[in-house]
Amino acid sequence: MAFEHVTVLQQEAVDLLAVKADGLYVDATLGGGGHTGRILDQLTTGRLYAFDQDQSAIDYNQAQYAAAIAAGRLVLLHDNFRNLETALAAQGVTAVDGVLYDLGVSSVQFDQGDRGFSYQHDAPLDMRMDQRQSLTAQTIVNDWPFADLVRVLTRYGEDRFGKQIARKIEAARAKQRIVTTFDLVAIVKEGIPAPARRHGGHPAKRTFQALRVAVNDELGALEDSLTQALALLRPQGRIAAISFQSQEDRLIKQMFREKSKQPDLPRGLPVLPDEQAPDYRLLTKKAIKPTAAEESQNHRSTSAQLRGIERIKVVGKKQ
Ligand SMILES: C[S@@+](CC[C@H](N)C(=O)[O-])C[C@H]1O[C@@H](n2cnc3c(N)ncnc32)[C@H](O)[C@@H]1O
Repeated sequence: MAFEHVTVLQQEAVDLLAVKADGLYVDATLGGGGHTGRILDQLTTGRLYAFDQDQSAIDYNQAQYAAAIAAGRLVLLHDNFRNLETALAAQGVTAVDGVLYDLGVSSVQFDQGDRGFSYQHDAPLDMRMDQRQSLTAQTIVNDWPFADLVRVLTRYGEDRFGKQIARKIEAARAKQRIVTTFDLVAIVKEGIPAPARRHGGHPAKRTFQALRVAVNDELGALEDSLTQALALLRPQGRIAAISFQSQEDRLIKQMFREKSKQPDLPRGLPVLPDEQAPDYRLLTKKAIKPTAAEESQNHRSTSAQLRGIERIKVVGKKQ
């Protein structure tokens, strides 16, 4: 299978990691392996651990990077990145020099019609990135209480028509189970007033995004994983994170800010004592965005935001 995923901010994200040739790195979101390849190019004796919860991404890269895997430079891990710490510990790794996230789904997952991620392909309402998981979009749409549906659609989809759409879903599912993406698209269209349907892209875009985030617990997994990644970093170790939607970016921004915040200087204290200085520093005060050239070549990149953080010191350990 061809893996037609165009990597976003490939150079910028890998540059932000400042890869050391002998370092230990993690690509938390392997996908089509674009960032992985760029990191591998910079490693000599170092090693890269690459996670993906989607079996098809693992299979594809097993073939693509067979030589690096055989040489022990690349280890593929079919796991959720929220298990970063335990999965790495199982490999004997307790500290790393860098972790890269390129969040969301790949174009390949969107284009695999049967996965149910796209409102443009008629398919079962699935949306699982990890085929081993039991929760699907069909369960949420048909079996979750009305209040939870409203919460998912308004919070994860940031959809002002979330409640109206949830009402239409409730009415439709009372008659018969909603099983396909096109069934859902038709119901969503009914929930959005005609004038609003003419703006802001496809009417089902927000609903599909919201359901995908809920099915895969994308924000929960990201928060868990970033917490572990921050703790795993060695001094001068870095995290580079690319997000494509505002809630993810907000979460990354807040966690990075919190970790790198300077404590308030006590009155009369001209300089902050070393032990009170933050353990991390922000690498990006403002998110890095794709260039106009990248945006015009790859429409998917337009919402991308890249942020980075570096560990300065490790509390309680001599460096
Ligand atoms: C945008 S793609 C990454 C593309 C990749 N950087 C490239 O250049 O080809 C995101 C990938 O991360 C995977 N993914 C998303 N969330 C994950 C999670 N919580 N754990 C493991 N993999 C995840 C998806 O299955 C998908 O293959």
